[in-house]
Amino acid sequence: MSLKCSLVLKNVSLSNGTIKDISVKDGRVVHSGMAVDSEISIDCKDLICIPAATDMHVHMRGGDIQKHKETWETGSKSALAGGVATVIDQPNTIPPVVDKESFLLRFSEAEKNSYCNFGINGSVMPGWDINALYRCGVCAFGETFFAESSYGSAVDSNFLKSAFEKIQKKDALITVHAEVIDSGEDDSLTSHEKLRNCQNELLAVKTIIDISKTGLKLHFCHISSPDSVDLIKQRKNITFEVMPHHLFLSYEMFDKNDGFGKVNPPLRSESVRKKLLLRWNEIDVVASDHAPHTITEKTKEIFSDIPSGIPGVETMLPLLINQVLEKNITLQSVIEKTVINPSKIIGIEPPGFTKGSPADFALYPKEPVKITADSLQSKAGWTPYEGMNAVFPDITIISGNIAYKNGEFYKDCARPVRGNGYIAL
Ligand code: DOR
Ligand code: ZN
Repeated sequence: MSLKCSLVLKNVSLSNGTIKDISVKDGRVVHSGMAVDSEISIDCKDLICIPAATDMHVHMRGGDIQKHKETWETGSKSALAGGVATVIDQPNTIPPVVDKESFLLRFSEAEKNSYCNFGINGSVMPGWDINALYRCGVCAFGETFFAESSYGSAVDSNFLKSAFEKIQKKDALITVHAEVIDSGEDDSLTSHEKLRNCQNELLAVKTIIDISKTGLKLHFCHISSPDSVDLIKQRKNITFEVMPHHLFLSYEMFDKNDGFGKVNPPLRSESVRKKLLLRWNEIDVVASDHAPHTITEKTKEIFSDIPSGIPGVETMLPLLINQVLEKNITLQSVIEKTVINPSKIIGIEPPGFTKGSPADFALYPKEPVKITADSLQSKAGWTPYEGMNAVFPDITIISGNIAYKNGEFYKDCARPVRGNGYIAL
């Protein structure tokens, strides 16, 4: 074949059991089979090579007020070092993404500084300009807070119902943070969990489903209890995501007052965590809810002052690939939950190995290492997974270009992704 391409991945083991050479040109797969003549060739014989993930729930922070927690540069490097090619940023920023002006501010910050592909979501809250956000190309409306979290103001059922109607008219996607909070003292991980318990999550999910009309593109963020999974599964076309921290961590693994385990929805008991993990096959999406806060913020003296959130974009795929090596889950199920389903739900083209697919890939060794905060890229500087086994990628590829290789990053590969309402100005 005379076609010259820019990259060939040799000896890629595909999920159907075949081994192929994948040739890439102009950011897309041009041939799958025997290698085409190429400038760069990578032998994947001893590697796990998969399409790179789309993390549909990250809080990249940045801006003037939150850049001490994370910036687009550190957050996107963190994504790449974990095998994530595309991040979807949540709009509970300061200022929140509510209209054209705040969207463009966020977008240009990402465009200038991001090392990975990025999409921006829009807020559902008083003052939002749904039409402007839609035309700007938000990937989804949300994370919409049905209960307050550290940042982002909550909306009530009436507001949400009317937002649902407007969003459904546009055939756009809405993502919702479903919790109900009891009143009481929030002074430890256990009391935090009690105030935001599984029954309350279930109640919120039920209320939200009840006010939605059939056909609305509704996606639940960070579902943490098996009962909520059961309820959501009764309704066709409603999707949900689960986070690695709810699959792999419980509050019982932390000291009672340890703010590093504080997150919304809260870490559950060990028994609930295990039951959730048993639902693996029913989970649509695994996303990180990457929510970096600094060590100083997470070790505040008064527990109720500690912000909720756990950094996780860099450890998500490494923890999952380790589960694959341990034969607890299949590689194909990881690809479905971190690449295919999130892309489908957001409405973007998933990367893949077939001809014409976007050429975003992550190449993992077959050996786990221990997670240490020191070796991570996030500005947060800590991880709740310290000491756990994980498999980090050697190489992450975006649009056929090496964006990350063994600790080195290469910029200018990133592309923006847009929602279906996008109109170029
Ligand atoms: O723990 C959380 N932190 N849950 C959320 O829903 C928001 C997030 C944040 O922005 O810090
Ligand atoms: Zn979130």
